[in-house]
Amino acid sequence: MRPTVNSASGSTGSFPLSNVGSNLLVILTGSIAAYKGCDVVSRLVQRGHIVRCVATPSALHFIGAATLEGLAGSPVLSDTFAAGSALEHIQLTRWADAVLVCPATANTLNRLAAGLADDLPGAMFLAHDQTKPWLMAPAMNPAMWTHPATVASVQKLRDWGARFIAPADGRSACGEIGEGRLAEPEAIVAATEAALANPSRKLRVLITAGGTSEPVDGVRVLTNTSTGATGAIIADHLSRAGHEVLLLRAKSAVSTDCACPEETFVTFSDLEAALRRLLASNSFDAVIHAAAVSDYRVDSISMGTDPPSVPAEKLPSGGTPIIRLSPNPRLVDSLRAWSRAPFTLVAFKLTCGAGPDQTAEAVSTLLAHSGADFVVHNDVAARCADGRFPANIHLRDGSVAAHCSDRGTLASELVRLLTSSTLLSYATNP
Ligand SMILES: Cc1cc2nc3c(=O)[nH]c(=O)nc-3n(C[C@H](O)[C@H](O)[C@H](O)COP(=O)(O)O)c2cc1C
Repeated sequence: MRPTVNSASGSTGSFPLSNVGSNLLVILTGSIAAYKGCDVVSRLVQRGHIVRCVATPSALHFIGAATLEGLAGSPVLSDTFAAGSALEHIQLTRWADAVLVCPATANTLNRLAAGLADDLPGAMFLAHDQTKPWLMAPAMNPAMWTHPATVASVQKLRDWGARFIAPADGRSACGEIGEGRLAEPEAIVAATEAALANPSRKLRVLITAGGTSEPVDGVRVLTNTSTGATGAIIADHLSRAGHEVLLLRAKSAVSTDCACPEETFVTFSDLEAALRRLLASNSFDAVIHAAAVSDYRVDSISMGTDPPSVPAEKLPSGGTPIIRLSPNPRLVDSLRAWSRAPFTLVAFKLTCGAGPDQTAEAVSTLLAHSGADFVVHNDVAARCADGRFPANIHLRDGSVAAHCSDRGTLASELVRLLTSSTLLSYATNP
C-alpha cells in the first residue's frame, strides 16, 4: 500500500521502489524456442505490464502473429516499412521502459553487434535510449553459442550496455548437449523486472501536482481546474523506470497508479511549507513543479459596513461581499534557494491562446526568473475534446526539445531527458 503523509505531519523517510505496469517491447527472433518467448510475453502481461511485440520474419515461421497479438493484445510488427508503422522503430523504443530480445538468435545477436539497421531489431537497437535496459535472452545450438563470432558479439553488446540472460546448459532442440538453451521463462521475467528496478542511474525526483485552494471563508475556497493528472502520469513513468519518486499532490488531485510515496497539500502555505521542508532535508536529482499554484490569496472580505476580514465561519448568503486578493510569491523562483543540493528543475507554463511570440516570451521569462532547466509549455486553446493536452518541452535557450501530443508522451520524454547524460551534466554543473 502507498504510504501517504499529510504535509502538515512529518517526513517520508526513504522512498520504496515500484516497477508495476511497465511498457515492455519484446522482440522475438527465429529460434525453435520462440514458443517459450510466447510464454514470456504471456507472463509479462499477466504481471500487469503492457507488452508490444516485434517478430522477425524468421520468428513467424515458428509462431503465428495471431498468437502474439492474442497474448499482448496489440498488433505484431515485423516489417520496418509496413504501412502506417514507418516510424515505429523510433516511437516504440521511446515508449518502452525496457526492450527484451527473447529468444535472441545467433543471427540477430551478431547483426546487432555489427550495428546493422536493415531490419526492425537492428533499427530499434540503434535508436534505443541507452539509459533504459536492453536485455537479450539468447537461444541457439551450443556450437553457435561458443563460436568466436558469437562470443565476440556478446562481449561487444555487453560493452555497449546490453544485459544478457545467460542461456542454460543441457540438451538443445537439435539433440546436442551444451550451453545455448533459452533460460526458463520465469527467470527471464525476473531478470526483466530486476532490470526495470535498476536503471543505470537511479534518480530521486520530487513532483508537485494539482491545484492549491485558498480559503475564502470557513467553507468556501478559491481554486483552479487543475486535476493533477500530468504530475501523476509523470510520477508513474518515472517510477516504472525504476526511479525514486515523491509525489507532493493537492488533496483533491488524482492519485497515481504506481506505489510511490506521496504527501498532500491544500493551500499555498501548505505547499510552500512542504517544499521548504522536503528540499532542505533531501537531495533530489530533479524537481518537476507541475502544481497549479494560486497566484493570489484572499487578503480580506468586506461585507456591508463590517470591517474587512477573512471569516473563520461561513459568510452569510445574500450579501455583496467584496473580496480583496493579494499576490502570492512565485514558489518556483525559490526552489533552488531552499534546496540543500543542486537539482534539475522542470517548470510549467500554461498560456491561454498565445501565439508563437507570446509563447516564446512567456517561456523565456519563466526560464529567466526560475532558473529552470526545462519548461513544459501548453496552451489552453490546444486542449483536445478527447482530453489530450499537447505540450512542448523547452530547453534553457528556449528551443523546443520535444513536441508531445499527450500527457503520456510528455512523461516519456521527460523521463528520457532527465536520464540523459546531457541532463545529468546540467544537474551537476548548473
Ligand atoms: C528448425 C530451425 C530452428 C532454428 N533454431 C535456431 C535457434 O534456436 N537459434 C538460432 O540462433 N538460430 C536458429 N535457427 C536459424 C535461424 O532461424 C536463422 O539464422 C534465421 O536467419 C534467424 O533470423 P532472425 O535472427 O532474423 O530471426 C533455426 C532454424 C531452423 C530452421
